[in-house]
Amino acid sequence: MKQLSILATALAASTTLACWAVAQQPPPSSSMGALMEGVSAESRACITCHETSTAPVVVQQWAVSRHAQSGVGCFECHQVDKGRKDGFEHFGQFISVVVTPKHCGICHDQETREFEASHHAQAGEILGSLDNILGDVVEGRPAAVNGCVKCHGSVIKVIKDGKLDPTTWPNEGIGRINPDGSKGSCSVCHSRHTFAASIARQPESCGYCHLGPDHPQSEIYAESKHGVTYRTLIGQMNLASRSWVLGKDYSAAPTCATCHMGATKDMPATHDVGTRLSWTLRPEVSIHLANWEAKRADMKKVCMNCHGANWINNFYVQYDSAVDLYNTKFADPAKAVMAKLKAAGKLGPSPFSEKIQWTYFELWHHQGRRARMGASMMGPDYVQWHGFYEVAKTFYSEFLPEAEALLPGVTADIKKSDANLWLQGLSKGDRDTIQQYYQKRYGE
Ligand code: HEC
Ligand code: HEC
Ligand code: HEC
Ligand code: HEC
Ligand code: HEC
Ligand code: HEC
Ligand code: HEC
Ligand code: HEC
Repeated sequence: MKQLSILATALAASTTLACWAVAQQPPPSSSMGALMEGVSAESRACITCHETSTAPVVVQQWAVSRHAQSGVGCFECHQVDKGRKDGFEHFGQFISVVVTPKHCGICHDQETREFEASHHAQAGEILGSLDNILGDVVEGRPAAVNGCVKCHGSVIKVIKDGKLDPTTWPNEGIGRINPDGSKGSCSVCHSRHTFAASIARQPESCGYCHLGPDHPQSEIYAESKHGVTYRTLIGQMNLASRSWVLGKDYSAAPTCATCHMGATKDMPATHDVGTRLSWTLRPEVSIHLANWEAKRADMKKVCMNCHGANWINNFYVQYDSAVDLYNTKFADPAKAVMAKLKAAGKLGPSPFSEKIQWTYFELWHHQGRRARMGASMMGPDYVQWHGFYEVAKTFYSEFLPEAEALLPGVTADIKKSDANLWLQGLSKGDRDTIQQYYQKRYGE
């Protein structure tokens, strides 16, 4: 470790590191010979052998990385202290396969501290959640190993002679718990062995996890004007630039990384993806996060590079109104009904015993999230047809009838509330408007 710190200090002090422009292309001049001269003797031994033995492509990927350009070789990342329980003797060196955030942090202190403070680093701690009962128990452990854990991470277990337990490795979950006690994986966004920032800046890298029925951020972004603009103007995004400041190095469109992590002229980049969020859209009922006004102000700083203040302030009024509608019309009443059913002993011994428990889970965990998340990132189809339409259909045609069947009278107050007066029939005015519309349009 000491050796690494010395190298890190030396590297940090070096201001003349070669800077080459396009990360996806091979480096301009540095031949393998030149790169070899730049790395430690220990790393040279790894490269010479691996070039022609196990996983030779690793060497090729490394050779086009900024690490190779800067003299950071195999040994600098894979070497570990003798105490590491997953370490092993390997042709004269003590190394491990797992390269943890703590290890990257020797040279990238700032990014690592921010990452460690984020929800991403906590994502392996899901054992107490309802989702976990679903994956681990209702479905079964292999479902969780191949599903939940791939995104969230779990404890990486070391078995006999330093080998890694196959139920926990491979594991690039964003909140995995590493053998050195640190949390998370940097390489799940920074694909090895190029570790190119250009890859992490693209929405696809987030889309490995942020997609699907319960958090379709990728799909929402893809349909948003931002995503459409990004795809059509990707050649102008300057993705492989060393510096990537919005409004200075690029201006075509925002990606996930722009809004949630990226630098602007008046705000530094961050590896804590939670610092610009005002609501949490994940729970049954959305709540504001601690210090939410300041966090929202930071997000607005990103938007205001491309939009005027009215556009952005009004966007937030529209977004807040969608969250409020979901909370007050659907989530609060449904949650209260579930509490009454529970108190009356109608819910059975597990969170997924009764049909209504599945109905309720989908209402908030899938449909309700889609509606809220669609509104947060300007994906109108997710707000409407994948979102509020599904919420309303489930609430009125499944949830309320199922609750009534279990405990007659339990939904009476809800049906009488102002928001649900339409259940008693449309007003004459509404009926006339509909009739006139179809007459004018189709002559019916
Ligand atoms: C003389 C050849 C040779 C040298 C030198 C060598 N390796 Fe390897 N390495 C191999 C072979 C063969 C394997 C596959 C068999 C094994 O796992 O032992 C391997 C496997 C690995 C693995 C994967 C282990 C796993 O369980 O998935 C890593 C990581 C690795 N080497 C890193 C290094 C690093 C870092 C160095 C330099 C410090 C290095 N190697 C030096 C030949 C070599
Ligand atoms: C910047 C740090 C870094 C450098 C430099 C680096 N590695 Fe790795 N290596 C990693 C990470 C991260 C992983 C994935 C393990 C993990 O998720 O922690 C990995 C995984 C591996 C594996 C296992 C791959 C697999 O899919 O089974 C091998 C083999 C390996 N490295 C060899 C090398 C060799 C050889 C070099 C030098 C040419 C090298 N590494 C340089 C960080 C590094
Ligand atoms: C495709 C990747 C992926 C899979 C598979 C996955 N999740 Fe998630 N999960 C996520 C993402 C991404 C979020 C955060 C969504 C957001 O913030 O909008 C999340 C959120 C959560 C949360 C909410 C955390 C909080 O702070 O509120 C829990 C709990 C959870 N997942 C548990 C599970 C369990 C248990 C499984 C398996 C049954 C699972 N997840 C499967 C990606 C995944
Ligand atoms: C959620 C995905 C994600 C994870 C996890 C992640 N990064 Fe990054 N990282 C990015 C993105 C996106 C960028 C580009 C940010 C930019 O230029 O605006 C980046 C940039 C970087 C840079 C280049 C910074 C610069 O100014 O050139 C370093 C170094 C880095 N990350 C290190 C790490 C380390 C170390 C970890 C683990 C502790 C890590 N990253 C985890 C997404 C991630
Ligand atoms: C021994 C020091 C050292 C270690 C360990 C190290 N890096 Fe780096 N890393 C560097 C240096 C030096 C650069 C080049 C910085 C520059 O060009 O300004 C760099 C650059 C990067 C970049 C920017 C690449 C780009 O395209 O701009 C990323 C991302 C990155 N490292 C991630 C990681 C991750 C993830 C790990 C751990 C798996 C890691 N590094 C381990 C020293 C290190
Ligand atoms: C390997 C899976 C994975 C990848 C890749 C990933 N995330 Fe996440 N993300 C998660 C999980 C899981 C959570 C929920 C963590 C929790 O609350 O326990 C999450 C949460 C978040 C949150 C909410 C943070 C908070 O404080 O509530 C944001 C924003 C986010 N991710 C953005 C991104 C962006 C942007 C990228 C790409 C640059 C990205 N994520 C890449 C899995 C991932
Ligand atoms: C134009 C900027 C912008 C882009 C691009 C963008 N987001 Fe967001 N994102 C937002 C805003 C605004 C919110 C809501 C913040 C709030 O509640 O204050 C949000 C919320 C989120 C959340 C929090 C959801 C929760 O559970 O509370 C996650 C996760 C997320 N975005 C991930 C992503 C991913 C992944 C991408 C790319 C596929 C992406 N975002 C692209 C602006 C953006
Ligand atoms: C890099 C510039 C850029 C950034 C940053 C940016 N936008 Fe945009 N935004 C655009 C472009 C380009 C369009 C498409 C304009 C058009 O239709 O011609 C757009 C369109 C929109 C729309 C209209 C979408 C619709 O469905 O009508 C809204 C609302 C919006 N942005 C809000 C935001 C918010 C909120 C943020 C910050 C969280 C943000 N934008 C950040 C460039 C940006």
